[in-house]
Amino acid sequence: MKKIQPFFALVVMGALLFITLYSSCKREPVFVGELPDPIDTTGDTTPVVVTHPCDPDSVYFEAQVLPILASNCAQSGCHDVQSHEEGVILTNYANVLATGKIKLNDPADSKIYKVLNDSDPEDRMPPAPASALTAAQKALILKWIQQGAQDLTCDGGCDTTNVTFSAAVKPLLDLKCIGCHGNNNPSGGIKLNSYDFVKAQVDNGQLWGSVNHEAGYKAMPYPAGSNKLPQCELDVIRIWIEDGAPNN
Ligand code: HEC
Repeated sequence: MKKIQPFFALVVMGALLFITLYSSCKREPVFVGELPDPIDTTGDTTPVVVTHPCDPDSVYFEAQVLPILASNCAQSGCHDVQSHEEGVILTNYANVLATGKIKLNDPADSKIYKVLNDSDPEDRMPPAPASALTAAQKALILKWIQQGAQDLTCDGGCDTTNVTFSAAVKPLLDLKCIGCHGNNNPSGGIKLNSYDFVKAQVDNGQLWGSVNHEAGYKAMPYPAGSNKLPQCELDVIRIWIEDGAPNN
């Protein structure tokens, strides 16, 4: 009996330590949208469609955060899977979580956020000559971590009715493409930051071929292995091109 006591004390201490660590890492749930109506059991057989309307106060990783990381950080030579500078890979949710040194208990101290504000332009990410992320982009990344660095999704935010260049196509390209296809050293020599540049890529077939991952074209968004654009966004681009790609 005497011999067992120290061992027992060790087990209790271990368990307490585990509980403390575990509970400090737990994520706070973030409320997203409305709950579906309760299932009607009175004979109405209309299927219950569960939707997740976008909540303006929640940050959606795939739709909002990943495009910033993909087009500013995950290029070849930086934080794609092959290059993985300093072990950091920013190509998808799992990799960002595994390598971004995110601190849920001190979001502003997360490595992935701190490097955005480094005063030395060589150490800041993305480093010079690339420009720093905008204040709004940084704030969004911080807010995403503060909300638990979750992978939330929602419906909406993409509308295939009355598709115009200015209201539908341009914002989509601005978010998902011009980090690599802007003024600063555009990838493949291709700029997509004005109507004329985009129209040229429509006319030579490359815009649709690349986003629709057709044979003979480089699949976009980049890097290879990135998800295709969501179906609704592909529809927006297709509808606009079928309309004659007007500058409207
Ligand atoms: C992370 C950087 C990155 C992002 C984001 C990105 N591209 Fe690219 N894009 C490239 C690179 C690099 C090339 C050149 C690839 C090559 O030549 O191997 C390229 C090439 C292209 C081409 C030429 C395709 C071809 O077959 O030659 C088009 C068109 C294009 N991109 C459109 C887009 C569109 C539209 C988006 C947004 C939906 C996008 N890109 C997002 C890096 C990017």
